[in-house]
Amino acid sequence: MKPVNVGLLGLGTVGAGVVNLLTENRDEIVRRAGRDIHITRAAVRNPDKARECAVDGMQIGSDCQVIVDDPEIDVVLELIGGDGLAFDLTMAAIERGKHVITANKHLIALHGNAIFAAAERNNVVVSFEAAVAGGIPIIKAMRESLAANRIEWVAGIINGTGNFILTQMRFEGVSFEYALADAQRRGFAEADPTFDIEGIDAAHKLAIIGSIAFGIPLSFERVYTEGIRYLASADIAYAARLGYRIKPLGIAKRTPEGVELRVHPTLVPEKALLASVEGEKNAVMVYGDAVGPTVYYGAGAGAGPTASAVVADLTDTIRVLSTDPSGRVPHLAFQPDQISDAPVLDRADFECGHYLRVQVADQTGVMAAMTRVLADLEIGIDAILQEDPPTTEDDAHVIVVTKSAREGRVLEAIARIEAFDFARKSLVHIRVAHFED
Ligand code: NDP
Ligand code: HSE
Repeated sequence: MKPVNVGLLGLGTVGAGVVNLLTENRDEIVRRAGRDIHITRAAVRNPDKARECAVDGMQIGSDCQVIVDDPEIDVVLELIGGDGLAFDLTMAAIERGKHVITANKHLIALHGNAIFAAAERNNVVVSFEAAVAGGIPIIKAMRESLAANRIEWVAGIINGTGNFILTQMRFEGVSFEYALADAQRRGFAEADPTFDIEGIDAAHKLAIIGSIAFGIPLSFERVYTEGIRYLASADIAYAARLGYRIKPLGIAKRTPEGVELRVHPTLVPEKALLASVEGEKNAVMVYGDAVGPTVYYGAGAGAGPTASAVVADLTDTIRVLSTDPSGRVPHLAFQPDQISDAPVLDRADFECGHYLRVQVADQTGVMAAMTRVLADLEIGIDAILQEDPPTTEDDAHVIVVTKSAREGRVLEAIARIEAFDFARKSLVHIRVAHFED
């Protein structure tokens, strides 16, 4: 059979990883795909730069448009990143009848609704397995393997850089800045690493997860997002004393009122599976009503793992080249006319446990006043701790872990506690999650 011609947009960490993988595992991949694969062209910003892969046989230039316009190219791999040029090129490729594979969660989270509509109009497939959790086949698992289930919730460590930084700080005692620079050097971080440390990258991925899990439109702008940037080492230590690890989690949950979509550092019981996921590794738990909890673990970033997902999409795409478009797996798991309008909830409606730490004047009555506030708002307490903070002599830290409570009530409790004269600074608030492993 005629080989499939592929055009590469971008030849950085992921692009070079794809070329290397297609070289190293060529025979296995072709045996699976059923057709040979030729990368005929690649476009990069600087064609003179040395590459981390062999580039024989491909024409390399800086004009991306040449690739989407080339009638000989069947499949375009978008591995540039961002949502500007990448969006224009993806739409142009689709309009020209080419299948597109991307690792770009930013692109899919912001423009996926328009991209998938265009793909359906043009009978092409847009694949994005690498966009969520790198090498872990979580899109395929949720979209195909769990198709019989009503998915109740998904919770995962979906930013490798953030998890790597917290792990390095905890086990190697390095600073936040040092750990971030290390993640950048290893190729895990985004071109703009604030996307990693402020939770935006995880929010992009969670928007995609939420749509596939619940059959709702991509709703990135509705994802509540907090990063790991301002996490204090004191809270990591107190959490450990209380039997928890702090992990950067993305949580998508179905509730009777709508859907919770949230990304934030989270206390996880130290015996929970997610607590033991370290370094750049990702793990995603999916709870389906028939199957119960399932867990998917692996490398969430890096050249090889990400290329693994991109090339798997390429293999699938080659298999569907001749398939009747109406029989293909829908982009967002549900048939396009079955996408629901379930509301994405506001932060005040989220329900989970809460870790609250407040620095207080070391005087009598503080604990009683705080517990009264919580009792008045019907917020139950799981654990309470009073400690001397490491730096000041006169103050104390009071740490409370609540039972599951509506966030709106907890925000009211925080406001009331911060208004006491004994409260020295803004209260630290981190959510707590208990999962059925
Ligand atoms: P890199 O920065 O390593 O590579 C980007 C590539 O795009 C480079 O080859 C660059 O060219 C090229 N490029 C950038 N701008 C232009 C332009 N205007 N015209 C032509 N070429 C351009 O990024 P990554 O490989 O790390 O990431 C690529 C995508 O994969 C992103 O969407 C990222 O979020 C996603 N991703 C990355 C993962 C990772 O572990 N790195 C994991 C999962 C997803 P040049 O080399 O000349 O500068
Ligand atoms: N910057 C991302 C991460 C790359 O660290 O998870 C993988 O999407």
